[in-house]
Amino acid sequence: MAMLSRSVLRLTGVLAQRAQPAFAVAKRMVTTDLSLEDEKAQFPSPPRRALLYLPGDSEKFTKKALDLDVDVVCLDLEDAVAANQKEAARVQVVESLAKFDFGRSEVAVRINPLMTDLCASDIEAILSGPALPQAIVVPKVETVTQLKWFFDKVDECMYERDPDFDGIIFMLAQVESALGLLNLRSICEADMDSETESMVMRLDGLIIGGDDFAADIGATRTRSAKELLFARQSVVVHAKAYGLQAIDIVNIRLKELDHLEDESNEGAIMGFTGKQIIHPDQIDPVQEAFAPSEAKIAEALAMEAAFEAHLESGTGAFTFNNMMMDMPTLIMSQNTLKDARAVGLLGPKEESAPVAEEDDGDDDESAGPEKKDN
Ligand code: COA
Ligand code: MG
Repeated sequence: MAMLSRSVLRLTGVLAQRAQPAFAVAKRMVTTDLSLEDEKAQFPSPPRRALLYLPGDSEKFTKKALDLDVDVVCLDLEDAVAANQKEAARVQVVESLAKFDFGRSEVAVRINPLMTDLCASDIEAILSGPALPQAIVVPKVETVTQLKWFFDKVDECMYERDPDFDGIIFMLAQVESALGLLNLRSICEADMDSETESMVMRLDGLIIGGDDFAADIGATRTRSAKELLFARQSVVVHAKAYGLQAIDIVNIRLKELDHLEDESNEGAIMGFTGKQIIHPDQIDPVQEAFAPSEAKIAEALAMEAAFEAHLESGTGAFTFNNMMMDMPTLIMSQNTLKDARAVGLLGPKEESAPVAEEDDGDDDESAGPEKKDN
């Protein structure tokens, strides 16, 4: 992850130093020297293996989502809502946030595109309601100017709501156009720049909007999604460069769960941390694909133990399962273990299950390495 330091601005503390709209003159900063790592320790990113959209104006769908055991429920105000239902949807979403217990699921709201009247009204309504969402999904992010408009709007609403607010609201930004992709680096950096960043919000993930992106570049969506390969990989690279999650395309083939499984596995292999979904049947295959398998966890534990043993004896590169292992392979194993811990498949490091021993040449990955007591 990039070693960037982010000054963490909150609504409490000393006077803000940067040029701000009138409301912000009274904004105050608490901590200006928290590193991004420290901030993430205080406000960790929840796992977002599956992000389930539902039309925000549908109370029926919303109620259904309460028991689905999905990582993220996203109440949509954008494309799932008909133009003549936008206001009704906004009212329903504010009510749903206040009225329903979404259990272990993170609750997000997707607002309408930036710098539109719909968007401004969405933000005002959601941030003034009785209960806040944990995340806001922002569609069609294309420029730093738009992002700054959004952060200022959110900060203004949150200041009106509670000048002492010291929590965080996550932002998940959707990349859905050629311009959005080209500007992605500046957009990620703007979230960490004291001239532009929000007082209460952290960009926490990038979402590739596959169908909108294909439409924007004049591509045709195919089953293989090869027309999106560059954009998907680029979103992963930007996300990883800035310590963000990367959330993959929607699969609209509701009845083709095998295809969904293949596409999810492909996304996980590419480095995506999760996927957008649109139907309850898609939850299990997707959450499974983006969680490490038992065999992969066992192998990563064995790899980590072998690496530590070799390090003690002064060896950096060594052979494991007939493959060369060194620091990058260790980091990939550690990523696997971190993902497993995040979704409860593995306890904290000190309590990890018995780990496997260095194998002397079994190529059968599914069998996993031999285990030993630690
Ligand atoms: N969230 C929560 N519940 C959902 C759901 C969703 N996204 N999609 C379907 N369900 C529920 C249905 O209400 C139904 O519940 P029930 O058995 O208690 O009656 C059950 O799951 C089975 O649904 P099914 O009959 O197979 O689908 P449907 O015809 O009701 O809905 C869609 C199909 C495509 C209209 C619906 O899945 C949908 O609107 N998805 C989200 C679309 C969206 O948000 N798009 C924008 C982002 S890309
Ligand atoms: Mg879209």
